[in-house]
Amino acid sequence: MSNTVLKLQKVTKIFGGKGDVPLVEIFNGMDFSVKTNEVVGLFSPSGSGKTTFLQIAGLLDSKFSGDIYINGSIVDAKNDFQTSRVRRKNIGFVFQFHHLIQEFSALENIIFPLLFDGMPKKIAVKKGKHLLEKVGLGKRMDNRPAELSGGEQQRVAICRAIINEPTLLLADEPTGNLDQSTTSRVMSFLIELIKEHNISAIIASHNPMISKLVDKNAKIADGKILYN
Ligand SMILES: Nc1ncnc2c1ncn2[C@@H]1O[C@H](COP(=O)(O)OP(=O)(O)OP(=O)(O)O)[C@@H](O)[C@H]1O
Ligand SMILES: [Mg+2]
Repeated sequence: MSNTVLKLQKVTKIFGGKGDVPLVEIFNGMDFSVKTNEVVGLFSPSGSGKTTFLQIAGLLDSKFSGDIYINGSIVDAKNDFQTSRVRRKNIGFVFQFHHLIQEFSALENIIFPLLFDGMPKKIAVKKGKHLLEKVGLGKRMDNRPAELSGGEQQRVAICRAIINEPTLLLADEPTGNLDQSTTSRVMSFLIELIKEHNISAIIASHNPMISKLVDKNAKIADGKILYN
């Protein structure tokens, strides 16, 4: 069993370069890895490539060169069938804007991935309720996203990302649109759930406040990702 959850090798990513579109090189021969149970904070200025990195690591972007290993196995990023299977089984995402389904209640939003994977509804509901109670939303389970505050919605999105216990959680500015006190509460919930469920994680942000809560800090510089 590999203790490296994610490994990227010699990754090069370039945008543009066709016609008059200027060429932007984001990564150049970048190597990076995350070990089991490690929580890494990726702190870099706006435009440095955090989202680009998470899209590559999360197998959502195949237009790059280099190799990706998930739990020790190489993944063919261009093979949609393989990447969607690996993603469903191993990777959870939290985006800056939560992408919750507006027609669904908080509970329905988070148990949806479990039902999709074939879990009986009764068990999924029990699991979902337990998780929402943990993040302080026990009384808001039947409310729809529009009836919840920004921080509450983000807590629902976090529950949805970890409910099927991914080995790797990728979070892109998970508190980007929240005020400072909500940010620290949502981040505490996020780290607590990650640790409790033995999940490895990469949390991208430009909020330096978060750097104290993670195990390791990394940044993007000169086409590479460096640990501080
Ligand atoms: N599809 C694209 N075509 C061309 N350039 C792009 C594209 N997507 C991103 N870029 C450029 O790549 C760079 C990195 O973008 P990215 O979104 O990864 O940054 P980021 O670190 O996530 O920034 P932020 O903190 O603002 O979210 C930026 O300069 C951006 O303009
Ligand atoms: Mg971004």
